[in-house]
Amino acid sequence: MKNSFQIGNVHIPSLAVLAPMAGVTDHAFRVLCKSHGAGLVYTEFVSSNGIIRENQKTLDMMAFTPDERPIVVQIFGETIDAMKRSAEYIQNVVKPDIIDLNFGCPVPKVTKKGAGSAILKDMPLMEEMTKAIVSAVNIPVTAKIRAGWDSKCIVAPETAAMLESHGISAVAIHPRTTKQLYKGNADWELIAKAKEAVNHIPIIGNGDITSAQSAKEMMDLTHCDAVMIGRRALGNPWIFSEINACFTGKELPAPPSLIDRVDMCRHHLLLEREDKGEIQAANLIKRHLSWYLKGFHGVSKYRSKIFMTKDIGIMLEILDEVREYILTDPILREKAYYENGALLDEVSY
Ligand SMILES: Cc1cc2nc3c(=O)[nH]c(=O)nc-3n(C[C@H](O)[C@H](O)[C@H](O)COP(=O)(O)O)c2cc1C
Repeated sequence: MKNSFQIGNVHIPSLAVLAPMAGVTDHAFRVLCKSHGAGLVYTEFVSSNGIIRENQKTLDMMAFTPDERPIVVQIFGETIDAMKRSAEYIQNVVKPDIIDLNFGCPVPKVTKKGAGSAILKDMPLMEEMTKAIVSAVNIPVTAKIRAGWDSKCIVAPETAAMLESHGISAVAIHPRTTKQLYKGNADWELIAKAKEAVNHIPIIGNGDITSAQSAKEMMDLTHCDAVMIGRRALGNPWIFSEINACFTGKELPAPPSLIDRVDMCRHHLLLEREDKGEIQAANLIKRHLSWYLKGFHGVSKYRSKIFMTKDIGIMLEILDEVREYILTDPILREKAYYENGALLDEVSY
């Protein structure tokens, strides 16, 4: 199977894509996923209002390094003017490969203003916004959508076709409704229908991929052009190399051992510190840490110790203790831990 695709003029070197995740897909995490084979990475969603006001925190969320390319900056907002002006700013100042329009965020603080997936209830606004942005920039513009607002308003297939007709270069679909949030299953049939509804743009399938095998199942069932991984990448950047191996008919790499997980956690922590400084990194890494160390028998006491400190030096010492603990236990040392449990369904961002 060919393991690359194209969005507009941008070559994407693998079919496994890292989903945008607010509070997660920052520079450090994107670099880790990229180095494990993600073909394309997205920033967290970035406020168009924040961009045009040149709010420093907002601008920092879009910073990336050349090794992250091809990279997508995702924006959200409720007004055509702010979305258009922020797209122009991104093209001219930030210079990513692709700009993505967030038409899928279900979080009430976003949708009550009319942004994110609220626009799935207002197709004329979505059309006007899309046209304005596509004509304002000359890099590819993509969109990420949900199934629809609720079970009475399922619009993904026709929305994908409409977006293509206005010059959108790829559509990523998470086929749950806004009302569902993360409940129930993603309806992969809708990805298949969207693929049938468009002429030539790539459809990126998203939702509930838990393994390389399930990524392949989504591909086979829906004929989507690429797969997007969100929650299963948390604490698990290895998922991308597993999917790449599966898609190219190679043997799957050995699952990461407990020691691999601890070492990745340390590496992640150091990357965050380098990028964000001590205080921010210490706060942020705790979430990642619990994902890396999830399900580890006997490690909870170390996890609690890490949660109690704000000092990165101490966190690193505790990680060394975890490493020692694993190495001195012959069963743990040999154990290849493989996270195959349920995906989180309470997601806060
Ligand atoms: C913590 C978190 C933050 C998210 N933030 C965003 C975001 O900023 N933009 C977006 O389009 N989707 C966001 N999502 C949704 C994911 O991109 C993805 O569509 C969803 O998690 C379904 O994919 P999965 O089953 O592989 O997790 C977020 C999801 C999670 C778990």
